[in-house]
Amino acid sequence: MNRVFVAATLLGVLTFPLSLRADSPPSAERGRELLLTKSYVPPLWTARAYANIAQQWPSSSTELSFEERLRERYGLHPAPYPNNNLPMGLRYDSFLGIRGLAIDCMLCHGGSIGGKSYVGLGNTSLDLQALFEEFTKADGRRHLLPYQMCNTRGTNEAGATSVFLLSHRNPDLNLQRKAYDLKLKDDLCEDVPAWWILKKKRTMYYTGGADVRSVRSIMQFMMSPLNSPQVFQSREVDFRHIQAYILSLEAPKYPHPINRELAQQGEKLFLTHCASCHGTYGENPTYPNRIIPIDEIGTDRKRFDGISYAFGEHYNRSWFAQERPGWFLDEYQVRATPGYQAPPLDGIWATAPYLHNGSVPTLEHLLNSKSRPKVFTRSFRTDWDAYDTQAVGWKVQEVDPRSITPQDPIERRKIYDTSQPGRSNTGHTYGDVLSDDERRAVIEYLKTL
Ligand code: HEC
Ligand code: HEC
Repeated sequence: MNRVFVAATLLGVLTFPLSLRADSPPSAERGRELLLTKSYVPPLWTARAYANIAQQWPSSSTELSFEERLRERYGLHPAPYPNNNLPMGLRYDSFLGIRGLAIDCMLCHGGSIGGKSYVGLGNTSLDLQALFEEFTKADGRRHLLPYQMCNTRGTNEAGATSVFLLSHRNPDLNLQRKAYDLKLKDDLCEDVPAWWILKKKRTMYYTGGADVRSVRSIMQFMMSPLNSPQVFQSREVDFRHIQAYILSLEAPKYPHPINRELAQQGEKLFLTHCASCHGTYGENPTYPNRIIPIDEIGTDRKRFDGISYAFGEHYNRSWFAQERPGWFLDEYQVRATPGYQAPPLDGIWATAPYLHNGSVPTLEHLLNSKSRPKVFTRSFRTDWDAYDTQAVGWKVQEVDPRSITPQDPIERRKIYDTSQPGRSNTGHTYGDVLSDDERRAVIEYLKTL
C-alpha cells in the first residue's frame, strides 16, 4: 500500500478526535441563548408588513390592544424572554441591510397554558395559513405556495413544508430549478410535539423515522431559498447547542391539586394497561421506544403515508443525512417504520389536544374512544377558563356538521371536522376496557407525570 496514503489515513484517524474536541462541547445554556436571540431564516416580510397588518383584519370595536389582537388572530403567545414586544415565533432581523420580520422555531414550538408561556410547548392555537397569507398581503405581495400550511387551526403541515423545500434542493443543498417529485401531501395534520419528551426518545418525529442524535435533521426548517449550502454548514455548530438545550428541557408540573390516593390506584392500572408502550415514571423511569404498527394502533394514517419513500431516498442522499461522514456508519439516515411511536407522557396534562393529529381534545376522550366528539371547535385561548381540569384538556363545543356552510376560511379552520382527510380520531382504544372510575384514576395519575 502507498505509504503516503497510509500516513494520511493514520493522520486522519488521529486528528479526527482532536478536531471534534476543537468545537466547544454542546451547552444547553448557549443553545437557549442562540435559539432565543439569533435568526436562522432571513426575514420573510419587510417591517412594513407588520406596520400594516391590522388593515388585513375585520374592523372591530374591541378593547384589546394591537398586540393582543395580533396574538388572538393567528394564535400566538407572549414571549417569556426579551423579544422587542413581538410574540414568540416572530422576530426582527435584517437581510442585506433591510430590516424585516422573520419567523423562528417558537412559532410552532412555543405555547402557553394557564396564562404562562413555555418554550418547547407545542403551539396548538396557531393558524399558520392565515399568518402567512395576511403578512404577505400586507407586504403588497401574493401568497403563492402550492400547498396549504394549515387545514385546521392548531395543527400545521410542517411535513409538507420540508417535502416542498427539499424538492427544490440538490443533495448538496444547492437550489434546483426543476423540482424533484417527492410526492408533496398537505393533509398530514400535525400537532406539534412537546420538546421536553425528546430526551427519552431514541427516534424522533411521529413515526420514529429519524435518529434523535441527528443535529442536521432539525436544521430542515432553515431551507429558505435565501440560505446557501454554506449557511447550513456554518450554523451546524449552533444547532449542536440548540439540540443540547432541547434535550435539557423538563416538563412543567401540573399546577392544580391532585388526589394522591386516586392517582396511586391509577398508577396500578397504568402499569397493567399502558406501561408496556409508554414506559414507567417516577424514580427509575423506563421508556421502551416502541413503534406500534399502523393497523394495530388504528389512528389516522395520513401522516404515516404522507412522507413518501421518494422523500426519504432524496433526504438520505442529501447533506442532512451525511452527518459525521467517515465515522463508523453514523450518518443518521431516515428510515421507513411500521407505524407511530408511543410517546413518553411527561407533562401530558399540558399538551392537549391528543394524538399526532390533535384530534382528541381531552384525556377523558382519549381513554373512551366512543365519547370522542366528531365535529367541534374551541376558543383557542389557553387560560384556565379554556381548560377542563376534570377531563384534562381543552373545553370544546360540538358543532352540527350541517351548519358548516362555505364561509370565511379562517372561521372554517376553527372547526375540527374528523370526517376530513388526516383528521379522523379513531384508534388507540386501550382505555375502552376500563370502567368510568378506573379511567378517572388513570387520568389522576397522568396529572402527576
Ligand atoms: C411550522 C411549524 C414548525 C416550525 C417552525 C418548527 N417545527 Fe419542529 N416540529 C413541527 C412539527 C409539526 C413536528 C412533528 C413532525 C412530525 O413528526 O410529523 C416537529 C418536530 C420537531 C422535533 C421532533 C420532536 C419529537 O419528539 O419527535 C424537533 C426536535 C423539532 N421539531 C425541532 C425544531 C427546531 C429546532 C425548529 C427551528 C429550527 C423547529 N422545530 C421549527 C413543527 C415545526
Ligand atoms: C400498544 C401500545 C399502546 C398502549 C398499550 C397504549 N398506548 Fe397510548 N399511545 C400509543 C401510540 C402509538 C400513541 C401515538 C398514536 C398517534 O399519535 O397516532 C399513543 C398515544 C397516547 C397519548 C397521546 C399522546 C400525545 O402526546 O398526544 C396518550 C395520552 C396515551 N397514549 C395514553 C395511554 C394510556 C393512558 C394508555 C393505557 C390505558 C395507553 N396509552 C396505552 C401506544 C399505546
